[in-house]
Parts: sequence; C-alpha cells; structure tokens
Amino acid sequence: MSDILLQAENVGIRFGGLQALEALNLTVRDKELCCIIGPNGAGKSTFLNVLTGTLRPTSGSVRFLGHDIAGLPLHRIARLGIARKFQIPSVFPSLSVEDNVKVARWGAPSPVRPVGELLELVALSNRAATPAGELAHGQKQWLEIGMALAIEPRLLLLDEPTAGMTPQETLTTADMLLRLKGEFSIVAVEHDIRFVRALNCETLVLHQGRRLRSGPFHDVETDEMVRDVYLGRR
Ligand SMILES: Nc1ncnc2c1ncn2[C@@H]1O[C@H](COP(=O)(O)OP(=O)(O)OP(=O)(O)O)[C@@H](O)[C@H]1O
Ligand SMILES: [Mg+2]
Repeated sequence: MSDILLQAENVGIRFGGLQALEALNLTVRDKELCCIIGPNGAGKSTFLNVLTGTLRPTSGSVRFLGHDIAGLPLHRIARLGIARKFQIPSVFPSLSVEDNVKVARWGAPSPVRPVGELLELVALSNRAATPAGELAHGQKQWLEIGMALAIEPRLLLLDEPTAGMTPQETLTTADMLLRLKGEFSIVAVEHDIRFVRALNCETLVLHQGRRLRSGPFHDVETDEMVRDVYLGRR
C-alpha cells in the first residue's frame, strides 16, 4: 500500500496579474517531516493555503489520502486529519492554556491523548492554568501547536512556527517537532534557516512562486542558487 498522505501536482495559482505559484509539486509520506523555505513573498503561505484546501489552485491538484481537497471547508479538512497553525498566533487570550487546548479539540475523534500529555509535548505543562493572553510570544506559538495537535492530526502544517522567537525558543521548537516526527506527518514553512538546519529534513525552496531547489537540507543549503537568493543576489 502506498504511504503517500498528501500529493500536490503541478499546482499553480494566479491572483489577477500575479502568477503567485507555478508548477509546484510536493509529496508528503506518512510520518514524514518536510520544510518549505524561501524569502519574503516567495509564495510559502499561499502554497500552504493550497495544501490545506483553503485556496483553490488555478491549475493542478491537491490530494490527501486520495481525496481531492481543493476548496474544501476547514471543518471537512480537519475531519480528514489535517491541522494547521497559522503565521499569526490566534489563541483565546482570556481562557487558560488548558482550556484553549480543550476548545481546540472539541469534536475531535477519539481516542485522544490527555490534555496534560499535549501540554507536555509543547513545553507548557507548568502554564496550564495561565490565561493564554499572559503567555510570552514564543509560548503562544507553542500553544497554537498544541491546539493543532489536539485534533490528533495525520498531517500538521505549520506556517513560520518560530516567527518572533528567541534563538533558544527556536531550537526548543525544532526539538519539539523532532519528537513529534514519527507520530504523524509535518510540513513546516520557515524563514529561519537555523531552525530548518536543526530539523535537517527534505526541503523545498520556493522563489517567486516556483521551485528553486528541493532535496535533503544539506544539498539545498550548499546550493549556489539557494545561497544567492538568501543573500539577496538574485
Ligand atoms: N489573496 C491574495 N491576493 C493577491 N495577492 C496575494 C494574495 N495572497 C498572497 N499574494 C501575493 O502572493 C505572493 C506570495 O505571498 P505569500 O504570502 O504566499 O508569501 P510568503 O512566502 O508566505 O511570504 P512571507 O515570508 O512574507 O510570509 C506575494 O507577492 C503576495 O503579495
Ligand atoms: Mg508567509
């Protein structure tokens, strides 16, 4: 049996006169961790929106476990087992950390792991009773990851999970994902090259909506063209 979970083929999307994505392919296997990187405006969030069905591509297809998911409403996507963390954290500030996770998993299929275990996975065990609005920025990002995990996803998609984090928090987040790898599949969109280096996984580099390079992180990192794009020479 194939272990392919998500398959995007020849995905393109046009916003008016802007070809924001063109001819993108991505295959995510069961329990695989992979990263999508690229400079600002490369199309990372747009591609993630297509992968979660939120945006319907102008061309190409996205299949999850064989289902065409283009344009499906979020609750259907969640029920299929896809969870997503957005670029800007959106937690319920007046609810406790624990209650945020409980709300997030409303309607999740059983069996579900205990909330305490989820909080432990995202380094928030000692903040369970704290109102989410009082968390430090990095902890809010972790809470959002915990909320995404609450639905027991098969696939977790993260948009810049380390945005605004300190270098130490960034490495803690990488450790977190490395621990979760092997339980389900993860696609992380990132800007921070140190984070992706720590994950050391299959990496797709986007530039101006197109695939610039893809492969194991080491090959990507040492690629001359990728270096040029990151150093702003192209
Ligand atoms: N709904 C939209 N309508 C029109 N243009 C859009 C829309 N969404 C994104 N774009 C454009 O598509 C391009 C890719 O944007 P996107 O947000 O996907 O980039 P990104 O790689 O996530 O950037 P960042 O690193 O800043 O988050 C940009 O030029 C952006 O202005
Ligand atoms: Mg983005």
